[in-house]
Amino acid sequence: MNLRIDAARLLSRLEELGRIGSTGDGGCARLALSDEDREGRDLVVTWMRDLGLDVQVDAIGNVVARREGREPGPPVMCGSHIDTVATGGRYDGNLGVLAGLEVLETLATHDVVPRRAMAVAFFTDEEGARFAPDMLGSLVYAGGMAVEEAYDLVSIDGARLGDELARIGYLGGLPCPGLVPHAYVELHIEQGPVLERHDEVIGAVTGVQGISWQEVRFGGQFNHAGTTPMAYRRDAGLAAASVAVAARSIARELGGHQVATVGKLDLHPDLVNVVAGQAILTVDLRNTEGDVLVEAERRMSREIDRIASEEQVTVERRQLARFDPVRFDDRIVGLVEKTAHAHGHPVRRLPSGAGHDAQMLARLCPSGMIFVPSAGGISHNPAEHTSPEHIEAGANVLLDVLLTLAEEDVLT
Ligand code: GLV
Ligand code: MN
Ligand code: MN
Repeated sequence: MNLRIDAARLLSRLEELGRIGSTGDGGCARLALSDEDREGRDLVVTWMRDLGLDVQVDAIGNVVARREGREPGPPVMCGSHIDTVATGGRYDGNLGVLAGLEVLETLATHDVVPRRAMAVAFFTDEEGARFAPDMLGSLVYAGGMAVEEAYDLVSIDGARLGDELARIGYLGGLPCPGLVPHAYVELHIEQGPVLERHDEVIGAVTGVQGISWQEVRFGGQFNHAGTTPMAYRRDAGLAAASVAVAARSIARELGGHQVATVGKLDLHPDLVNVVAGQAILTVDLRNTEGDVLVEAERRMSREIDRIASEEQVTVERRQLARFDPVRFDDRIVGLVEKTAHAHGHPVRRLPSGAGHDAQMLARLCPSGMIFVPSAGGISHNPAEHTSPEHIEAGANVLLDVLLTLAEEDVLT
């Protein structure tokens, strides 16, 4: 039987979920474990329960909904996240979760019960924008961080993660690390320009680049902007700005896939006529090559020391996230590519620039991802958009990839 998902139903759910935490300009703000996140979770859990799925919440708030197969055993799992950055769109993460739900609903509508069970999950705090590191829920699911350590993480607004989980009602009973799936496949928007530029519809994702996040604090002397001669200043703002310039230079010098971002900067006292006495900034470095990423970190560290010493400011650093590059399972990459071809879509193999839950699940089981194009390569922005046709194409590829994994011995 040639099963196909119901695109109208999937699009309407994306729309409905997108209304929760709406920023009024097409975007969403559902920071992890906020009230808006709770509201989004409740809606998706209702949809899961309405479908008759077995819905379980684990100790870090990941939600896994399962549909049994003809045989007992671990499920073929799909999913993603429904938390967003504060300037998020409607597709990042949400697509993978709702397309997974759509796949399970399509199977149920047509009374198709594959050999293996299937599950759709949404993982807690993938974005890391409120509680670092990113991919936290899937990291804990995969055994990469103890639950107790995760509970003690503190958000950018000073809240403790364990308290927030309990407050929104998602401190579940299922232990972590979680059940090892038979395989994991995540549909996601590309969040970059490559597929669109090449008129391709499906990305067979080969892996995820390595990521290094750190927070840097410079301490200088806040003082009068008019009366303090330049030679007497210990300007934390200048030090922060110099780090941003150095990050760009390092990325340029290393070339290739190296990217570097200073995306968050807080100055104190943050006033027009006061030299900044304190600067807190973040540095995000990423590369597909592990050794080049280490070199970028080394150069960044040297530059931070040099800048601090030149400006006579104190410096403190804190690592917020550090993950090596991940390669997805060749058999799943090949299966995504083959399925996309069979559906008549132009397809490209490409690495992911963004972090994803699939990179953590890859520690547990054969894993892979399916990308669909992002209009203009824009993401983490309310203007994030993927066309209905591309959403439908991606969800149908997900359906067939999951069905193949659930029926056949592709992985044995
Ligand atoms: C998180 O998803 C990131 O890539 O920053
Ligand atoms: Mn995402
Ligand atoms: Mn994201």
